[in-house]
Amino acid sequence: MTQNKDLAGLLSDAAGAAFVALGLEASLGAVRRSDRPDLADFQCNGAMAGAKKLGKNPREIATSVVDALKGSSLVAGCEVAGPGFINIKLSADGLNKRAAEIAADERSGAWTVETPRRVVMDFGGWNVAKEMHIGHLRSTVIGDSLQRLFRFMGDSVTSDVHLGDWGLQMGQLINEVKLEQPGLPYFDASFTGPYPEQSPVTMDDLGRLYPLASGKSKTDEARRNEDRAATQELQSGRPGYRALWKHFCNVTRVGLERECKSLGVTFDLWKGESDAEPFIPQIVDDLKSRGISEFDQGAWIVRVARESDKKEMPPIILVNRDGAIGYHGSDLGTIVDRKQSIDPQLSLYIVDQRQALHFEQVFRASDRAGYLPEKELEHLGFGTVNGPDGKPFKTRDGGTLKLQAFIAQADEVATARMKEAELGSDVSEAEQQDIAHKVAVAAIKFSDLSNVRTTNYIFDLERFVSFEGKTGPYLLYAAVRVKSLARRAAAEGVKAGPITVELDAERALVLALDGFNDALRGAYEKRMPHILCEHAYALGQAFSGFYAAAPILVESDPVKKASRLALALATLKQLEIVLGLIGIDVPDRM
Ligand code: ARG
Repeated sequence: MTQNKDLAGLLSDAAGAAFVALGLEASLGAVRRSDRPDLADFQCNGAMAGAKKLGKNPREIATSVVDALKGSSLVAGCEVAGPGFINIKLSADGLNKRAAEIAADERSGAWTVETPRRVVMDFGGWNVAKEMHIGHLRSTVIGDSLQRLFRFMGDSVTSDVHLGDWGLQMGQLINEVKLEQPGLPYFDASFTGPYPEQSPVTMDDLGRLYPLASGKSKTDEARRNEDRAATQELQSGRPGYRALWKHFCNVTRVGLERECKSLGVTFDLWKGESDAEPFIPQIVDDLKSRGISEFDQGAWIVRVARESDKKEMPPIILVNRDGAIGYHGSDLGTIVDRKQSIDPQLSLYIVDQRQALHFEQVFRASDRAGYLPEKELEHLGFGTVNGPDGKPFKTRDGGTLKLQAFIAQADEVATARMKEAELGSDVSEAEQQDIAHKVAVAAIKFSDLSNVRTTNYIFDLERFVSFEGKTGPYLLYAAVRVKSLARRAAAEGVKAGPITVELDAERALVLALDGFNDALRGAYEKRMPHILCEHAYALGQAFSGFYAAAPILVESDPVKKASRLALALATLKQLEIVLGLIGIDVPDRM
């Protein structure tokens, strides 16, 4: 898969050839980072398996491989340890070559996928009439990082925000607006239009009406029936309801776009559940005629249970008994829409772990119907964001925290932290604000993404907006420091030159840079952005060590000076790339 081989890849080739010479498979020569960096840089454990195959002593096999590896210019030292482990110490030459490659490559030595795929990413998933709150933050931040990563690896990604704009909530809201403003033309079935261009409700109104309506719908059965009827009428095209619904969507979208801009997140498609609607009749016909959909208690369903199921697996409901389309139907319709318009080879749904069953049902239905195969549909679940008390994040008075307020809070803390650290004091007020916002976004994204996706995590604003420790602001500051170093070097006319690794801290930095490929592969294959965060942090740490041990601008030897500057610039480039994949934008100064 790698065109641009990292050191482990190059060593694997050399070790693989040695195994082949012994009549064994090349794959036994797989080399990876050493578990004991104090003893070796890399290790290969294939001799044990190889010995078993040949009925020989593993140390004997290992010794032959070691002898062959010693002939490689990449290797400074190589020895057998224990029962047949092979420990490898890299040569300065090998490190220098790899460092030069990374420094010269605009992708910082990263590999790309051999066969790019068309990938759909479904994330965001905000709901119309609801302001974006902290609960939707994870989907947005994780999804955005994955779209950046997959694009960087060479895939062709189409991201879709998939708004929740079509369910029962819409009928509930229509009825609530009707109660409050009964005289509006939207409710008059004999009205022939045109409908007002101005929305009768603001986002604040929607925020107030929505919980009111859903509360009533839950407790009052008569009201619930009315809401279901209104939902069905909306879906079947009643003009007044459609016109009012369009206002709900537009009003909501203004806020969503503002939040996206503030977070630096973009989507290719702003589609919603409603866009699945036109596909439903053909799906029902198709699945009916093939005996896949059945009419059951007034609803069209598709059974998805399997013999081997250990848990209950209810059927999906394509069209419910009111003739309306719910969450299952809209997701299956969306699959057909995407198959026809994009024909994806992989679809990733970045949605709360609590929806795992829903996706399992929908994916099975899609597979049964022969639309998109189950193995090309993946639900990437994530845990909840909790407050410092370990419970789902709430405002002080117990409400859900709106994302806009949350970002404003983070901006405030970032501004205060910058003042404390005396950062940004020599730039204009406007630039200061811009930098503080970048710090805030870095804090939010890094704290979210650095956790293993599937776990819950505790969000602690004070801790994450800190320039110390494993935080976004720490890495941002590290990158800015190199940027300013680069500016000073340019001003002094110092130029980067060939990299020659001498100090331990320089070795460690090159090895950290070389770790990029492995981190990319792990994050890409597992769809786990925290691996990128780990790499960014390891790189930041290695750079600190290097910066402390290897002075650059005050170094008197011009060759060393040029080499160190080259290493610093290579680090900056990779740090900016990896932070970019996390969705973090590095300011020029602080
Ligand atoms: N709107 C949904 C919610 O808030 C999330 C949508 C996720 N995407 C999907 N294709 N179902 O729960």
